[in-house]
Amino acid sequence: MTTETDTPSQAPLPPTPVLQTARLTLRPLEESDTPTIQRRFPRWEIVRHLAPRVLWPYPDDGAATYMAISVEAMARGDACQWAITLQGDTAEMIGIIELRRDDGVSRDHRGFWIDPEFQGRGLMTEAADRVTEFAFLDLQWPRLWLTNAEDNIGSHRIKEKQGATLVERVPWTFVGGPNVKEIWLLERDAWMQRRAGKAG
Ligand SMILES: CC(C)(COP(=O)(O)OP(=O)(O)OC[C@H]1O[C@@H](n2cnc3c(N)ncnc32)[C@H](O)[C@@H]1OP(=O)(O)O)[C@@H](O)C(=O)NCCC(=O)NCCS
Repeated sequence: MTTETDTPSQAPLPPTPVLQTARLTLRPLEESDTPTIQRRFPRWEIVRHLAPRVLWPYPDDGAATYMAISVEAMARGDACQWAITLQGDTAEMIGIIELRRDDGVSRDHRGFWIDPEFQGRGLMTEAADRVTEFAFLDLQWPRLWLTNAEDNIGSHRIKEKQGATLVERVPWTFVGGPNVKEIWLLERDAWMQRRAGKAG
């Protein structure tokens, strides 16, 4: 339930909407995506940068467990979870991007991964920009807290390109072992100004 003290980012999220970008359709994650996640996700180059709640080696029922948790999180309004698909082939997901309701603690509002086959083409930049637009314009969130392992150059770069400010670096353990977690703040006003500047 929303109370007077809730900020927009603490209110329950709506059902995950379909979002379009120039090359992608972001559609709600669905149970039929489970086999594709089990096939595409368990790669060391993906999981090594993620939080250790991701089991490694990845179990045979890893995607099914993830799906059950995701479906519940979406139903509670704790997350919007999108299957990243190429326009024209919305059945086949190539990655996931999620927006997490602010729990007031974790300072980590967004997560994403994309199959290495599709990396390095600017696709996650495109997906992240669209989800950011949804958070700031549709949901009226005032800011996004974002994180990554410091050696995760692609994820670091996406935040930099969006105009986020690196506010803290803390020792942290990822699936790949001890590392440093970078914590970023992306403010709506700064993002809007940057966007207006690009358009102009
Ligand atoms: C991080 C990740 C989502 C990036 O996806 P992507 O679609 O390859 O990203 P983009 O193509 O939009 O690239 C974003 C920027 O990062 C740069 N980049 C991406 N991967 C890079 C790498 N391995 N080394 C150096 N730069 C890299 C790109 O050049 C681009 O910057 P530019 O526009 O200045 O050239 C992807 O590598 C991935 O899924 N990694 C595994 C999971 C993960 O780390 N998730 C995030 C956890 S915080």
